[in-house]
Amino acid sequence: MILLNPGPVNVSDRVRQAAAMEPICHREPEYFDLQDEVRSRLVDLFGLAARDFGAILLAGSGTSAVEAMVLAGVPAGKKLLVVNNGVYGERIAKMAALHGIPFEEVRFPWEAPADPGVVAKRARGAGAVAAVHHETTTGLVNPISEIARVARDHGARFLVDSVSGLAGDPIDVAQTDLCAGTAGKCLQGLPGVSFVLVRREALRDAPRRSVYLDLGELCAKQDARNTPFTPAVPIVNAFREALREAQEEGLDKRLERYRGTAEFLRAGYERMGLRFWLPHRKLSNTLTTLRLPEGRTYTSVHDALKAEGFVIYAGQGSLEREAFRIANMGWIPRAEFARLLDVLDRWVKS
Ligand SMILES: Cc1ncc(COP(=O)(O)O)c(C=O)c1O
Repeated sequence: MILLNPGPVNVSDRVRQAAAMEPICHREPEYFDLQDEVRSRLVDLFGLAARDFGAILLAGSGTSAVEAMVLAGVPAGKKLLVVNNGVYGERIAKMAALHGIPFEEVRFPWEAPADPGVVAKRARGAGAVAAVHHETTTGLVNPISEIARVARDHGARFLVDSVSGLAGDPIDVAQTDLCAGTAGKCLQGLPGVSFVLVRREALRDAPRRSVYLDLGELCAKQDARNTPFTPAVPIVNAFREALREAQEEGLDKRLERYRGTAEFLRAGYERMGLRFWLPHRKLSNTLTTLRLPEGRTYTSVHDALKAEGFVIYAGQGSLEREAFRIANMGWIPRAEFARLLDVLDRWVKS
């Protein structure tokens, strides 16, 4: 199956084989060597200074990294300002609510990138600002650099959910204080390991709000070649291979590959008369939301594509009946994208 959902993604044989390793004990040097390598490759890949930034690994999907980031990233007694223009912004607000962290939301329509000027008007007194880099709800990219400036100007920490953005769309992680990511999307690893890239300074007075998702504890233990809990060892091993591949390919080339594929696909969608949910210039490199043609259902396009070996995604939240999503993340040969366009074209004409 070719996975055109926004993660988990198809991975190379090399990555898959790494997950089929002989078991090793996570309290032995061989695991700590693996953990050290993954952490330092993440810091290098995103061009961060090892003195200032660290990568903290978590056993869990992307949501665990986002939740750990929210718990550690909002100083005690301070308010979080959540930039919300999609399901994942909404999820950050829900995390704050459930953990009793004071928060406010600055909402934008799902089809509009956040407006930093509006965020600035709401940021006074906030201890942290949180935003989603690539809103996978629609495929929209938020102006992270500009929101980073707003947070900085207000002396607030800047927390970014880049679970579907890192290695897919450009981001200067050094402008963030905490940035959550996952192995199983544009980094082309397997699901089950996620991470937070943290400015070490931001962890110094981080409040402790969870046992399992405590970034301060996880960081201290991982820095000391240790781990507080049992990691997903084979998935970490596969992630190491995925990071080696990413560095061999080069981050810029990875971004360019995704951008080129998205453009190739979008030209094809236009030729067959499909309509985009968002204007082109707002779209990410890795996901396109398309309107369902009049009178057609998601089930019909899903099933037609699945019969030919492609898995796509429904519209998210309230878009479920009006739109569908096609991602281009992961290790997929270009010929498969050409075949996808043929199959989709046949469905449009059927
Ligand atoms: C932007 C964003 N944040 C968070 C998540 C949650 O990740 P997971 O499903 O791996 O927990 C996703 C998943 O698609 C996402 O796209």
